[in-house]
Amino acid sequence: MNSNSKTVAVMVSGRGSNLKAILESVAKGECPVDVKLVISDRGDAAGLDIARKAGVPNVIHIDPKNFETREQFDTECAELLDRHGCQWIVLAGYMRILSSSFVRRFRGRIINIHPSLLPSFAGAKAVEDTLAYGVKVSGCTVHLVDEVLDGGSILAQSVIPVLDGDTRDSLHARIQIEEHKLYPATLARMANEGFEVIGRRVVWKSS
Ligand code: GRF
Repeated sequence: MNSNSKTVAVMVSGRGSNLKAILESVAKGECPVDVKLVISDRGDAAGLDIARKAGVPNVIHIDPKNFETREQFDTECAELLDRHGCQWIVLAGYMRILSSSFVRRFRGRIINIHPSLLPSFAGAKAVEDTLAYGVKVSGCTVHLVDEVLDGGSILAQSVIPVLDGDTRDSLHARIQIEEHKLYPATLARMANEGFEVIGRRVVWKSS
């Protein structure tokens, strides 16, 4: 682990292909983060198995059914994140809206990846909305998380063409190829270079 290495938690709800890409990049020595904790709100998330197989030391399912409110669920997650000393919280297909108390507690330390070129097509149906609108380029965005859904400052984006024959699945599959490169590369850049936020703009320290 190099000296820039950051302790990271990844939060997932599903397939976990971005988690897998991050773990592979870490294993190859390309991304100086230490994934200490993976949390899923779903017990059947494939991401849990991916994390266990990769040897993540703490892989935890927290069931929302055991909590009366979103805030109580998020407090349980927050305490776990703090207990494990997580500096960054990486959302990778995490489908729950975070409570504002959680966002405030970890302000500037939560990042997300979204399958569109934000600010276009925020929300859960980004790929469908992209196709329905008829734009000719799409891609993915890594951004800081604030109280506005998919609204935080942008750390990085990748662009791909939308093809005439695209379906939701074909477009999402090509976006995911980019996601799997962009997310680990952005984490590596965060660890190696650092950044500051000026207004809404992320400015990398090396630039
Ligand atoms: C990705 O397309 C990401 O942009 C969105 O949810 C999807 C998660 O995919 N937030 P996976 O679970 O990492 O495969």
